[in-house]
Amino acid sequence: MSTEVQDFRIGVLGRGTVGGAFAKLVDEHRARIRRITGLNPVVCGVLSRSEGVFEEILAGSDLIVELIGGIEPARAHVLAAMRAGRHVVTANKQLLSQHGDELFQVAGECGVQLRFEGAVAGVVPVVRVLQESLAGARIDRVHGIVNGTTNFILSEMARLGVTFEEALADAQRLGYAEADPSDDVDARDAAAKMAILARLAFGAPVTLEQVRYEGIRQITPHDMEYARELGLGLKLIGTAERIGDGLSVRVHPAFLYPGHPLASVNGPFNAVTVESPEITEITMSGPGAGGPQTATAVLGDVVSAMIPPASAPEELVTLPIIEDIESGFYLHLEVADEPGVLAGVARVLADHGVSVKSVVQKGLSEQARLVMVTHPVLESRFFAAMAQIGQLPVMRRPPRAIRVIEEEF
Ligand SMILES: NC(=O)c1ccc[n+]([C@@H]2O[C@H](COP(=O)([O-])OP(=O)(O)OC[C@H]3O[C@@H](n4cnc5c(N)ncnc54)[C@H](OP(=O)(O)O)[C@@H]3O)[C@@H](O)[C@H]2O)c1
Repeated sequence: MSTEVQDFRIGVLGRGTVGGAFAKLVDEHRARIRRITGLNPVVCGVLSRSEGVFEEILAGSDLIVELIGGIEPARAHVLAAMRAGRHVVTANKQLLSQHGDELFQVAGECGVQLRFEGAVAGVVPVVRVLQESLAGARIDRVHGIVNGTTNFILSEMARLGVTFEEALADAQRLGYAEADPSDDVDARDAAAKMAILARLAFGAPVTLEQVRYEGIRQITPHDMEYARELGLGLKLIGTAERIGDGLSVRVHPAFLYPGHPLASVNGPFNAVTVESPEITEITMSGPGAGGPQTATAVLGDVVSAMIPPASAPEELVTLPIIEDIESGFYLHLEVADEPGVLAGVARVLADHGVSVKSVVQKGLSEQARLVMVTHPVLESRFFAAMAQIGQLPVMRRPPRAIRVIEEEF
């Protein structure tokens, strides 16, 4: 190593799946990063539960990488690092989605960068694209498959006709799902990522608490079978979009037509589609998680911070959150096999202004089912109709509904 090249000291908090991969990656790419930045990156200290002292690592660092996860002590360390004038790189979506306001405010006040490419969609460079490449575009909507675990489970259910529980067991065996998969399958992980994407796309301080989310535990092989018959694919979709003067941010399972850019994203992959009048639509996809993959995104952020363009403090706008939005629906009804059932259901739907696009009737006697796809309708109307349908004496089980994304590209 040339003696004229100055060291750039990176303090790493966490030596787990991502932290361990990150330290290795710095070693592997040192020469290249030195060529790009003119500085020599070195890991000056690592903190885990059994090694390192945070204050010492901070004192000896030029930048802090936070890969502990969760809220505390990650939040306290990130704040202390920024207040000490260090740039911070993190992959912590829960922290950013719950304490983003405080963190970005302190970053602005202290004139340091807070970078977080690894927090959303792993190595897919969606944060950079929204922050930098599309800084000149008005973004109307972001759609994302931002959780690889659930995308793997839904892909397996569609491919093999297995139940949710069977596909989850496969995901756990292959390392795509954790022993406690709740955050993933109940969509809290995807909701945190959509809160971050909404902040980036619209400059609005959206928090996790403002995101409505619904997971995939209730999806059955029947839903997959009907989806196939109707020519639709089922995905867990996060959406952040402008509606009038407001904003809707939500995550739920949704049917997609085959032409939709997210319909062909299968397995543990992530993808994000950004829609804007200036650019029409851009879709980015790739591995959404994994130690080496996420560490690559983290190292990319470190390299960007080493070549400093001073990041301007965030300017926030206030956009009201819209709760009642329009959507198409798939409605799954297990009904008595007798005359007049379809007419009775159709009457309730019509009374609530819900118009039906397609109907499939299947099975006989105890197996009789009615599956409908509606045209877009205000959710409040649809759910009022569904509640009334649930009271009809011909219903054998409570009705189930899944949203349908209408657009074809
Ligand atoms: N894994 C992925 O594929 C992935 C993908 C995208 C984003 N992320 C994000 O990246 C971050 C790290 O995830 P990970 O999977 O690498 O986690 P992990 O494997 O659980 O590693 C966490 C590390 O933090 C350390 N740690 C935990 N509590 C600590 C404390 N109180 N004080 C000091 N150190 C502590 C642990 O120490 P010990 O080693 O002593 O236990 C461990 O080294 C999280 O924010 C996660 O959401 C992960």
